[in-house]
Amino acid sequence: MEKRLTIIGWGNMGSSLGEIFASRGWKIFSYDKDKKKLARKKNIFVCKSLQEAIRSSKVILVAIKPQDISSFLKEVEVVSPSSLFISIAAGVSTKFFEKKLNVKVVRVMPNLAVKKRAAISFICGGEKAGKKDLKLVGDIFSLVGEVVFVEEKWLDKVTAISGSGPGYLYYLLHLFYKSTLSLGFKKILAKRMVEKTFWGAMKVIENSSLDFKEWFDKVASRGGTTQAAVNFWEENKMGEIIKGGIKRAVKRAKELSLK
Ligand SMILES: NC(=O)c1ccc[n+]([C@@H]2O[C@H](COP(=O)([O-])OP(=O)(O)OC[C@H]3O[C@@H](n4cnc5c(N)ncnc54)[C@H](OP(=O)(O)O)[C@@H]3O)[C@@H](O)[C@H]2O)c1
Repeated sequence: MEKRLTIIGWGNMGSSLGEIFASRGWKIFSYDKDKKKLARKKNIFVCKSLQEAIRSSKVILVAIKPQDISSFLKEVEVVSPSSLFISIAAGVSTKFFEKKLNVKVVRVMPNLAVKKRAAISFICGGEKAGKKDLKLVGDIFSLVGEVVFVEEKWLDKVTAISGSGPGYLYYLLHLFYKSTLSLGFKKILAKRMVEKTFWGAMKVIENSSLDFKEWFDKVASRGGTTQAAVNFWEENKMGEIIKGGIKRAVKRAKELSLK
C-alpha cells in the first residue's frame, strides 16, 4: 500500500522530518502558509491549499508552532473522522485537538536530533487513537531515532528534558568553550577541543550498561584533575542548580500548555 503523509508547517522540524520520511519511501504532501518555503522534490509534493493538503492523505502531521495551533484549527474545514492527526506541537494536548476536530489524534514529542536520525521521540495517543494508530506513528518516528510510548501526563516533563536538552547541552558547551578561551587557547582550537571531547565522551558510553556515575567513577581518579573540578562544582551545589533549572522548565511547559 502506498504510504502517504501530509505535513503541515514546512519549517525547521516539518522539513527535516519530511525529507527523511520521503527518502524512506513515504509520499509526502507538504503545506505551509509561507509558500516560499515549499519546493517539489522526489517524493515531496507541494499542496496549494490547506484543504488540498488535508485531502491528500489520511495521516496528517502538524508541525507548526504551539501559538499558531488555535488559528490553524479554525482554518480546517472538512476532515474525515478516520483521519489521523499527529501533532508535534509542544504543550498542546490531544484533548485540545479533539475538542475542535472530530479526528484521531496522536501527540509526539521529538527533539532536534531528528535531523541526524538520532532523536528520542515520546508518543501518546488521544481518546480516539487505537493501537494500530500508535503503532503507525511509532513506525514513522522510528525512522528518525528511538521511540517511547508514554501516558500524556508525562509529556511536559519530557519536554523539559529531551525537548529542551539539546539547548541545555549547547549552553554548557558554550560555558566550557569560554573557560577554554580563558586559558589562552585560540577560538578555533578551543571550539574543536570542546566539541571533540564531549562528542568522544558520548560515543564511549553509547549503549553502555553502566550508569553515568559509574562512568564518572571509572574516569575520575581520586586526587586527580577531574575530581578537583567536580569537588569545586559540588561545593557550589551544581546538582541543585541543574535541578532548579529543570523544575523551572517543567513549570514553563505547564504554563504554555493548551489543554
Ligand atoms: N525545534 C525543535 O527542536 C522541536 C522539538 C520538538 C517539538 N517541536 C515542535 O515542532 C513544531 C514546529 O517547530 P519548528 O521549530 O519547526 O517551527 P517553525 O520552523 O516556525 O515551522 C513552522 C512552520 O509552520 C508555518 N505555519 C504557521 N501557521 C501555519 C498554518 N496555519 N498553516 C500552515 N503553516 C503554518 C510557519 O510559517 P511562518 O513562519 O510564516 O509562521 C512555519 O513555516 C512546534 O510546535 C514545536 O513545539 C520542535
